[in-house]
Amino acid sequence: MKVLVTGAAGFIGSHVVDGLRAAGCQVIGLDSLDPGTWTRPPSYLRADVDYIFTDLRHCVPPLDPRLRDVEAVIHLAALGGVGRAGLEPGNVLTANAGGTARLIDLLQAMPQLQRVVLAGSFSVYGSNYQYRVPSTGRMLTAARRQADLDAGCFDVMDPDTGEVADILPIGEATPPAPLEGYGASKYMQELCFRAFTAAPVTILRFSSVYGTRLRLDDGEATIIAKLAGWIARGDAPSLYEDGRQIRDWAYVGDIVEAVGAVLERGCRWPIVNVCSGEPTTLLQACHTLAGVVGRAVEPKVVGGFRFGDMRHCLGDRSRLTALLGRAPCRFEDGAGLAFGELRR
Ligand SMILES: NC(=O)c1ccc[n+]([C@@H]2O[C@H](COP(=O)([O-])OP(=O)(O)OC[C@H]3O[C@@H](n4cnc5c(N)ncnc54)[C@H](O)[C@@H]3O)[C@@H](O)[C@H]2O)c1
Repeated sequence: MKVLVTGAAGFIGSHVVDGLRAAGCQVIGLDSLDPGTWTRPPSYLRADVDYIFTDLRHCVPPLDPRLRDVEAVIHLAALGGVGRAGLEPGNVLTANAGGTARLIDLLQAMPQLQRVVLAGSFSVYGSNYQYRVPSTGRMLTAARRQADLDAGCFDVMDPDTGEVADILPIGEATPPAPLEGYGASKYMQELCFRAFTAAPVTILRFSSVYGTRLRLDDGEATIIAKLAGWIARGDAPSLYEDGRQIRDWAYVGDIVEAVGAVLERGCRWPIVNVCSGEPTTLLQACHTLAGVVGRAVEPKVVGGFRFGDMRHCLGDRSRLTALLGRAPCRFEDGAGLAFGELRR
């Protein structure tokens, strides 16, 4: 199968490219080598992949002849993340939404196209998480009261009784409600495909992703990248709130397998969360990472609250589990695969 991967030089794109090559696919990799991301092409680019180094925003018909017989497209090109979208909203919105619109122009000119996979993001869910009070079953939103936060009570609680509520894993049917520009641009990418009928489209919505090649120290480093970088250097991470915030990280190998499964067997759902579905607190993650990199680093819980932070994030992995035919990778298992090379 001939596959076009956009964002092919990126962290996730490079793993997808490796997976497709291992499966015997012919791969064209398109990437702008965005100057805000790269100072030079990454060393892992492959000699057996045909790269087109261009920005999707500049891709106007006629189609590059190398793309005429493409059979599947994996669209991962996007500028991240929340901080950058705040600083450069025009650049991020046009790269992500405008780039996707340009890509769709190109897809219309690919007569052999059989399938499209779009990299979505949990950022589209915004704060639409739901919580349940264990003793009563009362349902709550993710909202927290400033007075509780000021008093050092960080959990989502029943406003009448103060009982701590549990997060429910967020499912794909949850209405998107992005809170900032990056999430909005990722939702716009999804919306761009609403009227696309030339081939089935599967949106894989990733929670925060980790794996080898994750950039640990660039301006858009995610919390898991920062934790790994700090702990590998022997620096104690400072954790806000009480360190018991739940996060749900997706192992990059699961994305590679999910893409392979969609290409091979199709997918009966238009949207699939890619996450572990397993709650891991920041304190637990620090402990796991310290073991993986061989550093006895204890995190410092500094309290305090950052405006806009979610108390917990957790995805519903049911569809992904069915797509993969197994449960997704747990953080305890994936951390060694991803960060073992940082071990002293
Ligand atoms: N990394 C995560 O935790 C995460 C979480 C959710 C969703 N995603 C999504 O997964 C995809 C890949 O993310 P990543 O972490 O590999 O990012 P990355 O920054 O490592 O890679 C993205 C690549 O896309 C390229 N690019 C950006 N805009 C482009 C454009 N307009 N035209 C051509 N190339 C362009 C960049 O040069 C870069 O190499 C993105 O769509 C991202 O929104 C990532």
